Amino acid sequence: MCGIVGYLGSKQVVPLLLDGLKRLEYRGYDSAGVVVRQNGDLRTVRAEGKLEKLVQKLEGKIPPGTYGLGHTRWATHGEPSERNAHPMIDSKGRVAIIHNGIIENFLPLKRRLQDEGWSFSSETDTEVAANLISSYLEEDLRAAVTRAAGELEGMYALAVVSTVGDPEIVVTRQGPPLVVGFGDGEQFLASDPAALIAHTKDVVFLENRDVARLTAEGIEIWDETGERVERPVTRLNWDPIQVEKGGYKHFMLKEIHEQPLAVQETFAGRVDFENQRVLLDDLNLDPDQARAVSKIDILACGTSWHAGLVGKFLIQGLAGIPVEVDYGSEFRYRDPIVTPTDIALGISQSGETADTLSALEAAGERGARLFSICNVPGSQIVRMTDGVIYTHAGPEIGVASTKAFTTQLVALYLLALYLRQTRKGGIEPELLQALAHLPAAVDEVLQLEPQLERLARDYSRANDFLYLGRGLNYPIALEGALKLKEISYIHAEGYPAGEMKHGPIALIDEDLPIVAIATGERVYEKVRSNMQEAKARDGIVIALTDREPAEFEGIAREVIQVPRVSEELQPIINVIPLQMLAYHVGVKRGADVDQPRNLAKSVTVE
Ligand code: M6R
Repeated sequence: MCGIVGYLGSKQVVPLLLDGLKRLEYRGYDSAGVVVRQNGDLRTVRAEGKLEKLVQKLEGKIPPGTYGLGHTRWATHGEPSERNAHPMIDSKGRVAIIHNGIIENFLPLKRRLQDEGWSFSSETDTEVAANLISSYLEEDLRAAVTRAAGELEGMYALAVVSTVGDPEIVVTRQGPPLVVGFGDGEQFLASDPAALIAHTKDVVFLENRDVARLTAEGIEIWDETGERVERPVTRLNWDPIQVEKGGYKHFMLKEIHEQPLAVQETFAGRVDFENQRVLLDDLNLDPDQARAVSKIDILACGTSWHAGLVGKFLIQGLAGIPVEVDYGSEFRYRDPIVTPTDIALGISQSGETADTLSALEAAGERGARLFSICNVPGSQIVRMTDGVIYTHAGPEIGVASTKAFTTQLVALYLLALYLRQTRKGGIEPELLQALAHLPAAVDEVLQLEPQLERLARDYSRANDFLYLGRGLNYPIALEGALKLKEISYIHAEGYPAGEMKHGPIALIDEDLPIVAIATGERVYEKVRSNMQEAKARDGIVIALTDREPAEFEGIAREVIQVPRVSEELQPIINVIPLQMLAYHVGVKRGADVDQPRNLAKSVTVE
């Protein structure tokens, strides 16, 4: 995940920037850089690799200056290299910019700017923003940033310095977090308060589309309408554990909120948006081998098994390869038929789940090549498989899987696209554009949290819950039910909506909340009919939908309206309200949500 820091004051800036970047080191990154304004010029120093490389490069040559920006990059557009590292300077050398996020419309903007004579020296979307801001820069940097931001689609946290005017830093965000901090005659900014608390405790978390200007006098903020606003100052009296939790009450909540960035990290550096290609280097499955695959056996447990069920839809639908999905604990006890042209794909967040590892071993003994999707580098599953797709979700501390799950879904989508590319000759641009839009949609769905908290309050005393979904949303119904069970200890069932009438319908009475997922086109009407059946038996229907709430009048007591994305990526959006519902119900019931009873983060026994 990219890290952003900035300082404006009277101290030498580079050591402060390096200190801030060090505190963001846990995010992992592939390059780093700083920019300082010096005698009217912008001086950048950038290095590929860990922060240490940048520190070495700066040894004995620290550019003097009292304001500037620092960045650690995790590649999204363009390979990890010094050339693609931030800060980026526009082609007229007037602004320097650091950026976290994805600018979805970077290609049309780039073409337009090229036509206007702007040149590009990197493959990044960030350089597009740098040139765009510079193209609007006259005297007022804030005006240029505001105008340029109005044309950017996607997710971004941007910080900009320029060669014009008095010392100032201008920042804006849409999606990724940005926090500004007040000191005595000095101002700070960062993507994460952890980078600031050594210097200041008084901070403001910027709202989406806010634009802020940091100067020696203080910090001014404008909202999305251009009105000057005062945002509440938060005092960070955090103990070390709170620092680790990023100010959230629980790791689970923090991890739920990390998902816009986490899903982005999963596809970062793996998609060439300009040439419409997916690159999965660590997978070690070359195009000839990919074309020869006759069947994929997905092996996993718990939440990862639910990801596998979604993966089956994705791979069969996009690449036309037959897929079977087994629980790790069941696979080897059912005499599976495996041939040497099959591949077995183990999915495991921890990479240490004994049942999944044993199942993979059994598939290997029967001749399959082994692959994995995993979040933990160097774990057992990575060591025993020929290739891996790392999810790059960052550490997941809460026992209940949240960001590990959504990033597994992204990894499976990438795999399905890679197989489509090799077997069907290419990937349609809209399939990649949908991915570029995903982080913004995940950010949007997180805004539903107040509603989910209210629902949790209203229904936390229920004894049972039923979750219904069809097609790609059936595994999401299973995952919603599993989350609620784990976190709140309420009994919950996930069911294919069409199966309800074959048994679970007997459970329905006026006390049973039924969460029904009705998104997309394919089975929407069917699920709506299933909801009507539940309503007719007095069940409390809670609709999770991408349609207007009015469509559920007289059927659903509650409607959770989520943003619509592509059919294949919709499960990622749909599961997030269910995670938040489980979390808030667990909290209301006083459960230990980060360490639910009887559960362990990695289950290393069979
Ligand atoms: O580490 P893994 O993904 O292999 O773990 C598999 C399951 O134990 C895990 O998903 C479990 O179901 C979680 N507690 C779900 O929240």
